[in-house]
Amino acid sequence: MLNIALPKGRLGEKVYALFEKAGYECESIKENNRRLTFENKEKGIRYFWVKPSDVSIYVERGAADIGVAGKDILLEYEPDVYELLDLKMGACRMAVAAKKDFRDNTATTLKVATKFSNIAAKHYQMKARDIDIIHLNGSIELAPILELSDVIVDIVETGKTLYENGLEPIEDIVSISARLIANKSSFGFKTEKINEIKNKLQQIVENEQ
Ligand code: PRP
Repeated sequence: MLNIALPKGRLGEKVYALFEKAGYECESIKENNRRLTFENKEKGIRYFWVKPSDVSIYVERGAADIGVAGKDILLEYEPDVYELLDLKMGACRMAVAAKKDFRDNTATTLKVATKFSNIAAKHYQMKARDIDIIHLNGSIELAPILELSDVIVDIVETGKTLYENGLEPIEDIVSISARLIANKSSFGFKTEKINEIKNKLQQIVENEQ
């Protein structure tokens, strides 16, 4: 059995549809229940739904042989996994945003609220800008509104959340999309099977470009 960790939620459904199209269907995944694991014995695969930010943990520790994780998570946690393929899904960007009237005063420490503390720290380190990171777990856009922070570092997809909260992007950091990742030793033991899946997915991704 090849264990595959899929990110639970909107992106996960699109990712599963891609695997299905590549010939790795699993009918029971479509049943409306709360099960988290699904097998197709004939194809030798087992899917499981995990929280998107946990996919790389399952893969790094070998509980999953392969999985799909956002580039944001890979940059933030730097898991020791192979990144095999850009699935070109869930495209968005990591950006700095602030209130519309924000002006950076470089004489003071910049307060940065984010879920992505490492990405933010590296970004400002490269600019030699002195910052104070305020690590939050969600609703990051609230921080500048309530003056908890000067700026935020967060994911921007359509820009709607920023706009509706009176914020605007002021700097792009990096482009983000979903990536196929593999456990390093699984890739050694199950190279053929993993490459077969990777190649089939790649063909579809390239055809859809
Ligand atoms: C992300 C991000 C923004 C929003 C951006 O949140 O943190 O809040 O999406 O999307 P937009 O540019 O299309 O408005 P997500 O939905 O991933 O959940 P979160 O609250 O856990 O961060």
